[in-house]
Amino acid sequence: MFSLLRPLLFHLDPEVSHDLSIAALGCYGRGPGIIRAHTGPGVAGQPIELMGLKFPNRLGLAAGLDKDAQAVEGLARLGFGFVEVGTVTPKAQPGNDKPRLFRLAEHQAIINRMGFNNHGVVAMARRLEAVRRRNRLGGTLVGVNVGKNKDTPLETAVSDYTRCMEVVYPLADYLTINLSSPNTPGLRQLQSGDDLERVLGGVATSREQLSVQHSRRIPLLVKVAPDLHAEDVVEVARAIKIHGIDGVIATNTTLSRQGLGDSPVAAQAGGLSGAPLTSLARQKVAEFRQALGVQVPLVGVGGIVDVASGEAMFAAGADLVQIYSGFIYQGPALIRGLVAGGQRHRG
Ligand SMILES: Cc1cc2nc3c(=O)[nH]c(=O)nc-3n(C[C@H](O)[C@H](O)[C@H](O)COP(=O)(O)O)c2cc1C
Repeated sequence: MFSLLRPLLFHLDPEVSHDLSIAALGCYGRGPGIIRAHTGPGVAGQPIELMGLKFPNRLGLAAGLDKDAQAVEGLARLGFGFVEVGTVTPKAQPGNDKPRLFRLAEHQAIINRMGFNNHGVVAMARRLEAVRRRNRLGGTLVGVNVGKNKDTPLETAVSDYTRCMEVVYPLADYLTINLSSPNTPGLRQLQSGDDLERVLGGVATSREQLSVQHSRRIPLLVKVAPDLHAEDVVEVARAIKIHGIDGVIATNTTLSRQGLGDSPVAAQAGGLSGAPLTSLARQKVAEFRQALGVQVPLVGVGGIVDVASGEAMFAAGADLVQIYSGFIYQGPALIRGLVAGGQRHRG
């Protein structure tokens, strides 16, 4: 089906085809019956218990595709073991001016400067409530990735994160604190120094309160940038352990333009994802594994575009993996390859 639709989707403006795909996935998820995550002999096909959660397989959808939780069941039906929705912010916001999403098909890459366009956390909670009420997710986990509004100063960013946490806490299987989008001015500063301490301390305290209030403790992960230097990785890892954060998602998109040759699209501002990110993301995962030790769960994301790059991410130390750009270019075949096995090389 995807192979039939692909030429049409790639002919349209990227954002139009994104919106159409989310609508189609929303429809695909409707209907009766329990949705079972796929398992198989593929590199990400086996279940795993981690952070107190049972992941039916090790493959997740990365944040940013279903920013408003409009297609959770459709995405689950494609076979993902976990679906991360968001980034969501306390208030709805329009994001940056269009155009803000660019394909580099010859590189299996994307540049985006979306800027956290989303309907706000209350609208997301309403959709997730409906998902929970329908109760059709037979084991597929839902993570919620939270961020700050553009007009919230960095000094008070922690209150945006905790506000989102409060609203979605009872509806999420895990929460991701996004400190690494390059498209919200200053956000990545939160990955170091006093800002890092303040944010991690604040979200950790909020999680303790919420776990008492809801009699349920859910894991808190932090999502980091691939552009961190090796010494920054050590600092982030240390802070994560001190504050009892449960895991790390590495990585978000990169500001680098390595591997794009003389593509004219390379000059667009924003974060780069897909195949050019493969080795950098893998390297950061390896650095985090070393800095965190073997205990802290690590989700590897960035440039997984085939089975070989998925395998390499696990070999670098990831416990789970997520995909975004590879899924855009290859559709459900990449999920099948990683979960069921087969299709080892880029194509
Ligand atoms: C169009 C687009 C929007 C994204 N939006 C978000 C987002 O809102 N929050 C986030 O944490 N990551 C976001 N990401 C980053 C992805 O989740 C992922 O970390 C990154 O794309 C690297 O994975 P990939 O190479 O498989 O695409 C976005 C990526 C793309 C391409």
